[in-house]
Amino acid sequence: MPMSGRKDTPREQLPDSPLAGALSLPRAGSDFGAIDADEAWIAVIRKMDETYAELVRQQVELEAKNTALEEAQGFIAGLLGSMTDVLVACDLSGRVEQVNLAAERAFGLRADALLGRPLSDLLDPSSETTAADVLATVARRQRIADREFTLATPDGPLAIAVNGALRFDPRGRAVGIVLVGRPIGELRAAYGALAKAHEHLKRTQQQLVHAEKMASLGRLVAGVAHELNNPISFVYGNAHAMKRYAERLIAYLDQVHAGADATALAKARGELRIDRALSDIPATLSGMLEGAERVRDIVADLRRFSSDRREAREVFDLAGVVRSAVDWVAKSQMPDLPITVAVPEGLEAVGHPGHIHQVMMNLVQNAVDAMEGRADRRLEITGARFETPDGLQVAVRVRDTGPGIPDALMDRIFDPFFTTKPVGKGTGLGLSICYRIAEEHEGRLEAANHPEGGAILSLVLPAAP
Ligand SMILES: Nc1ncnc2c1ncn2[C@@H]1O[C@H](COP(=O)(O)OP(=O)(O)OP(=O)(O)O)[C@@H](O)[C@H]1O
Ligand SMILES: [Mg+2]
Repeated sequence: MPMSGRKDTPREQLPDSPLAGALSLPRAGSDFGAIDADEAWIAVIRKMDETYAELVRQQVELEAKNTALEEAQGFIAGLLGSMTDVLVACDLSGRVEQVNLAAERAFGLRADALLGRPLSDLLDPSSETTAADVLATVARRQRIADREFTLATPDGPLAIAVNGALRFDPRGRAVGIVLVGRPIGELRAAYGALAKAHEHLKRTQQQLVHAEKMASLGRLVAGVAHELNNPISFVYGNAHAMKRYAERLIAYLDQVHAGADATALAKARGELRIDRALSDIPATLSGMLEGAERVRDIVADLRRFSSDRREAREVFDLAGVVRSAVDWVAKSQMPDLPITVAVPEGLEAVGHPGHIHQVMMNLVQNAVDAMEGRADRRLEITGARFETPDGLQVAVRVRDTGPGIPDALMDRIFDPFFTTKPVGKGTGLGLSICYRIAEEHEGRLEAANHPEGGAILSLVLPAAP
């Protein structure tokens, strides 16, 4: 029932309490009966219940907030405590408001002995950066970046490198300064260790580069020796034959000079097979000459391709470079490898033939390595000239029937020191050197896999004009 009696109740008589609304009780002797009074009490009790429930809810909420606050404080205290860097927070006038454990240790004082002290108290008079510098810097709203401070500590002045900035309250007003520093000695030691590790790495890399040079020199020597072997044994065999012919001719001439008669001479001519010797001599000599020329060409190639004169840019024939690289690498290491070289004579590029020879030797070496122990082995090298928007270019493609290059490694094979070969077999420098040489020639080196298996390495160079 609505408490319409409230209308008649003078305001000034109501109790001054939050429950005032609920306590608008009928006065004694009013027209309302006992039922109205009961209802009013029930309303009062209900209101009290609600108020109590509200208080309990607020209490629970408050406790939850307290717990969260304690956890946050504990977390921050944990962070500050485990920081190895010295942390000092000051107000805007430079008075210390907070320090962490590392600061307490550095100053040899407990936090309460540090709080409230001016920053200048904590610095040694010799400090490169003064408290006034700090205040002036933050007043200009600038950060303090890697500034050197000298702290006054019980063990004497301690140099630290400090970074700092303004501290803001939740409303974004600057309320103080936070400084974080690390002893410079520690930093120097860390830099020292880093420099040492870097030095060690550089030395190891140099050793690897040296090892790679020695290994490719070894391969080059082995290849060249193998190549020279053929013409030299050819020359050697023919020279032996020439020696025998010469001995027989001399024996015959001796008889001529001794005045032997025609019958004796005819007999000697038959016995010494003089006619055979005379007819063989031109071919034997041409064989010797051919062998000697081959030796001369190999030595010339060796000179040309192993010289390191970077300034020597010239127009050169790729066919010769490819042939020599195949001869020196593949023929000596895999004599039974079927090789097709379809690089037309006169496919000319511009650059350093020795460096391009080195690229070709590396590519052929990689192909040979990839096919080692495989049943189907083939090396196909093709060369072509083509027109591009960048001008005339020449390309040499080296295709093998090895396992190909896994997609995941495609981006890494040109990285220096990337290798999948066992220790001692490869240093991983081959392709990175080739890549650099291609770039120096304003060309490029690309890797791909053939749809039928095996890798294709393509060297593209600007064509000779
Ligand atoms: N023809 C190829 N087939 C398959 N994988 C190849 C081929 N060529 C190169 N790779 C991969 O690329 C890697 C890097 O080649 P790179 O020539 O740079 O170094 P390497 O041959 O391992 O050592 P190095 O050439 O210094 O002796 C090789 O280890 C190999 O995994
Ligand atoms: Mg290699």
